[in-house]
Amino acid sequence: MKLPVLTAVTGAWEAPLVSGLESAATGVAVVRRCVDLADLLASAASGRAQAVILSADLRRLDRDALAHLATAGLAVVGLHGPGEEQQGSRLRALGVTHVLPADAPPEDIAEAVETAVRDLRDGVQEATKTRHVGMPASAPDPAALADPAASLAPIPYAAADEDDDTHSGADAAGSAPGQVIAVWGPAGAPGRTTVAVTLAAELAALGEPTLLVDADTYAASVAQTLGVLDEAPGLAAACRAASTGSLGADLLARLAPQVTAGLRILTGIGRSSRWPEVGATALEAVWPVARQVARWVVVDCGFCLERDEELSFDTAAPRRNAATLAALEEADVVLAVGAGDPVGLQRLVRGLSELREVVPSAAPRVVVTRVRSSAVGSGPQRRICEALGRYAGVEDPVLVPDDRAACDAALLAGRSLTEHAPSSPARRALAGLAAGMVPATASSVVQPATETPPHATGMTRRRLRGRMTG
Ligand SMILES: Nc1ncnc2c1ncn2[C@@H]1O[C@H](COP(=O)(O)OP(=O)(O)O)[C@@H](O)[C@H]1O
Ligand SMILES: [Mg+2]
Repeated sequence: MKLPVLTAVTGAWEAPLVSGLESAATGVAVVRRCVDLADLLASAASGRAQAVILSADLRRLDRDALAHLATAGLAVVGLHGPGEEQQGSRLRALGVTHVLPADAPPEDIAEAVETAVRDLRDGVQEATKTRHVGMPASAPDPAALADPAASLAPIPYAAADEDDDTHSGADAAGSAPGQVIAVWGPAGAPGRTTVAVTLAAELAALGEPTLLVDADTYAASVAQTLGVLDEAPGLAAACRAASTGSLGADLLARLAPQVTAGLRILTGIGRSSRWPEVGATALEAVWPVARQVARWVVVDCGFCLERDEELSFDTAAPRRNAATLAALEEADVVLAVGAGDPVGLQRLVRGLSELREVVPSAAPRVVVTRVRSSAVGSGPQRRICEALGRYAGVEDPVLVPDDRAACDAALLAGRSLTEHAPSSPARRALAGLAAGMVPATASSVVQPATETPPHATGMTRRRLRGRMTG
């Protein structure tokens, strides 16, 4: 029996291809010639075909469209204009692995269709689509994730020029991909952003190129916290570029300006109503590029773990929590942040069990902020450790002291604790967490932050403000 295929081929190639496929003794049969992408997606959903042959220049073809086709179980073969290698590269960037010139013999195209269907059946295409270059296809070793400080082996990294504020991307050739740290925490403002911003600033101060990504689709606040007047959400722009296959390290570096030496930020969506611009399929393509741009990718996540498609029958509809879930699934290290008071701790215990259910691969390291005796009684460190051990099996949480004065002053100045209050107790606790993640060889050559770090003179930030507002 012949393989039923859909075609969505543009221009003069369409008619000869279809007649060629039908007249030659190929193993495929064209069941519908789609006129545009909408027609193709509707036909794909009908379940009549097993594969699709589409053109690179099909209007509105992007990662979301290809995700729809994958959800419908269709294998994809892409065609580019003869000699138009760029179109072929774009298709590959979008995740299409079987790509031929449109004037290839029908037998070759039919053979590619059969191979694509076989690959899809064997799960090969799925594995290459969802994994990024250089990462193992298997799940991360949970034992290795349990102790991020101990398990993060030194990796060679071709660092971006620290003093360079011209947005040049890191040289991906020969450098190992960076590590993703997702900073999550339950509802109630436990201090996720403070932890994410300070950790990122500390890693950068240790000489580690770091990209801080604001993926909170409810209350993005990284830009404001770091005093960046942000008009264009960098993450949404990166997702747009990723969904059309045009996001490379250089473009991502341009979208993520450097706020202090070694620290770039990809700002979040200022208006939370813009959350559909940060989609799961686009993010899948953002992470590998982010790993090229920085050695550490610190992601400030939202609180909500609900998989909203359970609330809807349209499984392909955009999901508000996609960014948080995608970051948690992608992360090499997950930090779960809770507030050090009775309500915050109870939310954290429940949140950890929810996190286990929703993202079983996450082996979170727990961080408790605003630790103070006035909220839990004398000896707050011991009490919190005991409670978390008893109710959530958590060992050795990172405890960040309550440090209202330093946090307020840093927020008011629009700077990280690292820049503004390096001797504050909260900064010291988070500096310890960062130092534990960085291989000794790297951290040992770096000076600890002083009261006035050389890169914190405000010059970079002022230049950045001018650029982003001007
Ligand atoms: N260790 C701390 N001590 C005192 N205040 C803190 C501490 N960590 C965070 N905060 C304050 O708590 C508030 C919420 O923190 P934030 O990081 O924005 O939380 P989230 O991102 O979880 O909503 C902010 O005003 C912040 O300054
Ligand atoms: Mg926040």
